[in-house]
Amino acid sequence: MAAASSRISSLGLLLAAHCALLLALAGAAHGHGYAPSGGVALSSGFYDESCPSAYDVVRRVIQDARVSDLRVPTSLICLHFHDCFVNGCDGSILLDDDLPAIQSEKHVPANDKSARGFEVVDDIKSALEAACPGIVSCANILALAAEISVELAGRPRWRVLLGRRDGTTTNIKSANNLPSPFDPLDKLLEKFRNFNLDDTDLVALQGAHTFGKVQCQFTQQNCTAGQSSGALENLDQVTPKLFDNKYYNNLLEGHAQLRSDQVMLSDPCAAATTTPIVHRFAGNQQDFFKNFVASMIKMGNISPLIGKDGEIRNNCRRVNKRY
Ligand code: HEM
Ligand SMILES: *[C@@H]1O[C@H](CO)[C@@H](O)[C@H](O)[C@H]1NC(C)=O
Repeated sequence: MAAASSRISSLGLLLAAHCALLLALAGAAHGHGYAPSGGVALSSGFYDESCPSAYDVVRRVIQDARVSDLRVPTSLICLHFHDCFVNGCDGSILLDDDLPAIQSEKHVPANDKSARGFEVVDDIKSALEAACPGIVSCANILALAAEISVELAGRPRWRVLLGRRDGTTTNIKSANNLPSPFDPLDKLLEKFRNFNLDDTDLVALQGAHTFGKVQCQFTQQNCTAGQSSGALENLDQVTPKLFDNKYYNNLLEGHAQLRSDQVMLSDPCAAATTTPIVHRFAGNQQDFFKNFVASMIKMGNISPLIGKDGEIRNNCRRVNKRY
C-alpha cells in the first residue's frame, strides 16, 4: 500500500515536473518568424483594387460544390490548417508530385486519405483566373475558404487578412510532423508553440471540430464491429453542422471523437494549461467566437510569403516553372 502510494506520488511528481518544464518552455518559445517581417504585412483590403470580386467568387464556387458534397467547407478549413503548419501559409499542401523537384505533402499520414477538396480549389482558381487573371494566390484561396466555411455554418464572420503569395517548395519532414490525433497534450502544445500559438489558440482552434467528419479509425473508439476503417462519423455528435461551442460541452461529458480533443481535459498536463479554457468556452459562446477569430488570424499569419517572395501560381497543383 505504502509502496503503491509512493509510486503514485512519485509518478505525480514526475508528471508535475514534466508539465512545469512544458510551462517554462512556453515563455521561451519564439517559433520561426510567424509574423511577416520587413514592414509589409497582410491586409484585409489587399484585393480591393486588383480583384474586388475575389471573396464572392470563392464563396460562390464553395456554395455550388457543397450542393453535391456537404463536406466541402469543412474539408477546406482543414486544408488551410495543414497548409499553414507546413512552411507557413503558402499553398504548399496543394502541390502534386512533380519529382524530383516536388514531393507532394498529400501523401504524409495526416493528409493521406484525410486531406480533400483539391478539385474544389481547382474550380475556385479557374473562376478567379477568369475574373482577375494572375492575381489571387492559392494560399489566399485557402484562407478565404476557411472563413467562408465558418460563415456558411452559422458564424462568426471576420475580415480575412490577404496578401500571401504561393511557395515553390514542399516540406515533407514538416508535414510528417503535423499534429496527430494520437499525440499527447504536451506534444500538441509544443507543436502549436513552434508557431507562437499558445494554449488558448490550441483550445480555440480545435473548436473547429464543432463541424465536419472523421473516419472512425481516428476516433477514440476506433470503429465499431462491422464498420470499415474509413466509415465517416460526425466530429460533433450533438450539433454536427453548426459552428457553435457545443464541442466543448461534449468534451466536458467525455464525448470527444478524437483523443487529441479529449486530452485537453484528461491529460495530466491539462489542469495547468487547457482545462480552464475548455470550461470558459463551454460556458460562453461569444468568448469562444472572439478567441477563434483571433486564433485563425494568428494561424493565417504563419510565415506568409509577401512582396516579391514566392509567386502567384497559375495552377494550384504546380509551381509556375521548375526552380
Ligand atoms: C490539435 C491539432 C489537430 C488534430 C490532431 C486534428 C485532427 C483531425 C483529424 C484526425 C480529423 C479527421 C480526419 C479524417 O478522418 O480523415 C480532423 C478533421 C477536421 N479538422 Fe482537425 N485536427 C487538429 C486541428 C484542427 C484545426 C486547427 C482545424 C481548423 C482550424 C481543424 C479542422 C478540422 C475540420 C473542419 C475537420 C473535418 C474535415 C472534414 O469534414 O473533411 N482541425 N482533424
Ligand atoms: C484500430 O483497429 C484496427 C483494426 O482492428 C487496427 O488495425 C488499428 O491498429 C487500430 N488503431 C488504433 C489506433 O488502435
